[in-house]
Amino acid sequence: MIFDTHAHYDDEAFDQDREELLSGMHQKGVGYIVNVGASMESSQRTMALAAEYPFIYGAIGVHPSETENLTEEDMQWLKERSADPKVVAIGEIGLDYHWETPEKDIQKKWFERQLALAGETGLPVIIHSRDAARDTLDILKGWQKEKTKGVIHCFAYTKEMAREYLNMDYYFGIGGVLTFKNARRLLEAADYIPMERILLETDCPYLSPEPYRGKRNQSGHIELVAERLAELKKLTKEEVLAQTWQNALDFYSKIPRKAQAV
Ligand code: NI
Repeated sequence: MIFDTHAHYDDEAFDQDREELLSGMHQKGVGYIVNVGASMESSQRTMALAAEYPFIYGAIGVHPSETENLTEEDMQWLKERSADPKVVAIGEIGLDYHWETPEKDIQKKWFERQLALAGETGLPVIIHSRDAARDTLDILKGWQKEKTKGVIHCFAYTKEMAREYLNMDYYFGIGGVLTFKNARRLLEAADYIPMERILLETDCPYLSPEPYRGKRNQSGHIELVAERLAELKKLTKEEVLAQTWQNALDFYSKIPRKAQAV
């Protein structure tokens, strides 16, 4: 069974056929999906999806690019909703220096504020980090005291950076990029990261694996990522899916531990 640990089914890319697509997930071998919020609005939409579909859970939080107008009231809202049984993580939160705005100080402030929120709620964190390797690592190193579990979503840094996060017990989100032709650096890091630390994810509608690169992604495509990872780790695809399923349940510990067939 596939466990998609990071998806955005509330995205408008799914407006035309969301219901049809999601109701066909079991036929595609998908057992669980965690839909991830990226703004206050998408965190609300995530909660609605999680309420509607038994196999969908939610992460709520605000992506660094959406932090410009955040308020303490928003933090209060997130904190209250985090008690919902279907909210299983805070995220995605972090730093994104690929874009010029919001300025770095604003991004850092709300990254640290949402890490504190995760500490208060005890929920794991989903970290988004793009072109901001050093600052992300420094902030996470400074957050050891109330630390909860964390995953570096769409891990795209070096093997050396992976070692730093492994030393702090982080998980690594790996998806379609692993199948790209120019994935040499990621293949090297993925080869180094132990299987027990890998979570499979789509980040859909983005980052479709080959041969669907550039097209809309969906959770069934994780099978292609599992195949590539199996090749790299000298395992079978089934072994990769079974291990990463277990990892996802260890990480999202609020999700009931049902057998694989759900
Ligand atoms: Ni995402």
